[in-house]
Amino acid sequence: MSVKFAVIPAAGLGSRFLPATKAIPKELIPLVDKPLIQYVVEEAYEADIDTIVLVTHAAKSALENHFDTQYELETELEQRNKLALLGIARNTLPAGMKIVSVRQGKALGLGHAVACAAPIVQDNPFVVLLPDVICHHAQQNATAQLVADYAIHRSSVVALQEVPVDDVHKYGIAAVSASHRITGLVEKPSAQDAPSRLSVLGRYLFTPHIFAELAQTQRGVGGEIQLTDAMQALLAHETMRAAVFDGEVHDCGDKLGYLAATLTFAKRHPQLGEAFRQLLEQHI
Ligand code: G1P
Repeated sequence: MSVKFAVIPAAGLGSRFLPATKAIPKELIPLVDKPLIQYVVEEAYEADIDTIVLVTHAAKSALENHFDTQYELETELEQRNKLALLGIARNTLPAGMKIVSVRQGKALGLGHAVACAAPIVQDNPFVVLLPDVICHHAQQNATAQLVADYAIHRSSVVALQEVPVDDVHKYGIAAVSASHRITGLVEKPSAQDAPSRLSVLGRYLFTPHIFAELAQTQRGVGGEIQLTDAMQALLAHETMRAAVFDGEVHDCGDKLGYLAATLTFAKRHPQLGEAFRQLLEQHI
């Protein structure tokens, strides 16, 4: 069975990024010229996912609007014969992709957000992409790597990346065996308690059995229902593979991480890159 569903948890209120996120969903903040969430949707598309399940919040309908038709804008661009811009406006959702949204009525944590997608995903394998983490890989994107791994091994598989010891308290941290299996997971451990420096970076592929674990997961770190705890519980029944990602990972939910990502993506931008690099030189 191929992987067709991607769950994107996007119900968070973005308090780390205030005041920018007071009236605008944090997922719509642009990285150069494209909102964060569009990078993530395109990553899923490149991995052959055809249905996005957006887990969202009452105050964030702009997210759904971004992927919908905007008649007034499109008619205007058409009448003025601005066809390149019309194409951009129309293709926020890649051709053939479907998007479904579900509400997470209560902010009970990432595990709870993923569980909100269960009625849509049902008995299918699925990926989870955290939209404030933007990844880049020159050959195969992080989600496509997980999907390729699943095609061979038919197991849940999680993208990991090594972080400095001082940062392990910010992430889910995995213990990994020599055969690339995850043997344990801890959410935001102290440096002493961390089983490794391999962090869960925000790209996951799960068999639907994770939903049964999520249904039983109690509140954990921060009083939230943690996805990491449900994954730890799933380890008792199933193999979960580790996929160490060797591309770029940018935490765009953090102001400095976002600035670093902006620099990197602007320097690489096909139209703006060269001019931007010159601009940078003038400022150093
Ligand atoms: C979440 C997960 C954590 C993961 C991180 C990646 O934490 O709970 O396991 O390592 O995303 O960014 P959050 O950043 O929402 O606190």
